[in-house]
Amino acid sequence: MKKVFAHRGMSALAPENTLAAFSMCKQYGIQWIECDVDILADGTVVLSHDDTLDRCTDRCGSLYDLTLSDLSDIDAGSWFHDDFIGERIPTFEQLVTLANEHELNLNVEIKSCTAGWEMTDKLLTNVIRDLEKLNPERELIVSSFNHLALVEFKRRRPETAVACLFEDANLWDDWCSILEACQAEYIHPEDVNLTKEKVQKFKAAGYKINVYTVNDLTRANQLFNWGVDGVFTDIANQFPSKYKK
Ligand code: G3P
Ligand code: MG
Repeated sequence: MKKVFAHRGMSALAPENTLAAFSMCKQYGIQWIECDVDILADGTVVLSHDDTLDRCTDRCGSLYDLTLSDLSDIDAGSWFHDDFIGERIPTFEQLVTLANEHELNLNVEIKSCTAGWEMTDKLLTNVIRDLEKLNPERELIVSSFNHLALVEFKRRRPETAVACLFEDANLWDDWCSILEACQAEYIHPEDVNLTKEKVQKFKAAGYKINVYTVNDLTRANQLFNWGVDGVFTDIANQFPSKYKK
């Protein structure tokens, strides 16, 4: 069964990485969601693609200067559409609760926390803490561009499948060693320079492949025909129901 991941939630219809964007998934029959996680100064794990507030809220400044109590004053919806005024930056714990309630499977992308290794380490600790609340019936993949963080995550939570993210499907010369070091089950390449031959090579090496970000149904079908296992898309609502399992 192919996987269609609602990338940052239903991000074409609602502000990315908000509860509004994830709450919509069930009504469109989506089973898998992707979220980005990072950390606040007080250790709270939140959903945010960027390490600043500038693009997706009504504020500017670093995420790492905030604490949980600041979130109630920050609007994370009005930049997208007035319908979403009042949306907040959610905590990861809130998303775990929603995933349990809506029976959604999770791809948690651990962002390359730019606040340093100490905060990255805390991010891993607190993601693992929050994941304890995820219903064991939910499926889970943890991914990152920060492969060192993935090695450490896998050491602490070996039962969770991990995925190495790569910008550009050319990967790096030492991609095999990286995947082995992470004990990864998945390669998550960008849909740039991805060819049938590369898909076959990755599959022959024993990995499952989920490609980001695929916002074209024809391209998604081509990738699936090549053997790709899943795609991350902002338009999950437009995919045929056969892909939403
Ligand atoms: O996890 C797939 C994709 O989200 C990775 O890139 O920048 O959209 O987080 P980005
Ligand atoms: Mg992401």
